[in-house]
Amino acid sequence: MIVAEDISKSYNGEYCLRGVSLHVHRGEFVSVMGKSGSGKTSLVEILAGVRTADGGKVRVCGEDVFSLSPSALARFRRTKLGAVYQSFGLISTLTAADNILLPLTMERVPRGQSVKKLNSLAERLGISRCLCKYPDDLSGGQRQRIAIARALIYSPEVLLLDEPTGSLDELNTKNVLNLIREINRATGITVLQITHSRSAAEYGDRILTLEDGKIVQ
Ligand SMILES: Nc1ncnc2c1ncn2[C@@H]1O[C@H](COP(=O)(O)OP(=O)(O)OP(=O)(O)O)[C@@H](O)[C@H]1O
Ligand SMILES: [Mg+2]
Repeated sequence: MIVAEDISKSYNGEYCLRGVSLHVHRGEFVSVMGKSGSGKTSLVEILAGVRTADGGKVRVCGEDVFSLSPSALARFRRTKLGAVYQSFGLISTLTAADNILLPLTMERVPRGQSVKKLNSLAERLGISRCLCKYPDDLSGGQRQRIAIARALIYSPEVLLLDEPTGSLDELNTKNVLNLIREINRATGITVLQITHSRSAAEYGDRILTLEDGKIVQ
């Protein structure tokens, strides 16, 4: 479901990723661990098509991510992929509810059809009281859970999570990871979680490590 072959990436002549290959099968929940600066965010953003690579190939849900046109890539990211970026990527001029519903709004799904799902996700994530607020008026942990709800609202086939619990306390971390594992088991969604936390990584079926620009088992 996620196939990366020989991905390389350097910044200003310095290598960050040097031949990363990764296969995640449909329905699997894989965690990738690595030290700060090891290239985890670079990797996940390359897989999501929001950052370019210097070389290699990426296929996600059967799509060759590097060869999609900008509009096809945007649609692919809205409909097939749910992603939680390390910087969340919320739109500051939209309320939390509108941020979460954005993938559906862009696909012209009537709002009435989405409200039930929005409310149940918000309840599970403990953000029901945040929905009318703007991102700048929320805490880091609340913003992170808004980003998680947005990634889940379209019932994507693949979920890419970059430190999805990095801003959360212990209780919320467990709650979020249990929810993701539950959705993974119930729907067969494929999950790639990036984390530097061993206990968070253990929610996955497999743990890989990114070290010296390569994946080691
Ligand atoms: N846009 C950029 N321009 C130049 N260098 C960059 C850029 N983005 C990342 N880097 C460098 O690439 C390396 C990997 O960064 P990356 O953000 O992928 O690491 P990370 O594993 O996600 O770290 P963290 O755990 O701190 O989030 C770092 O040395 C970083 O300084
Ligand atoms: Mg990072």
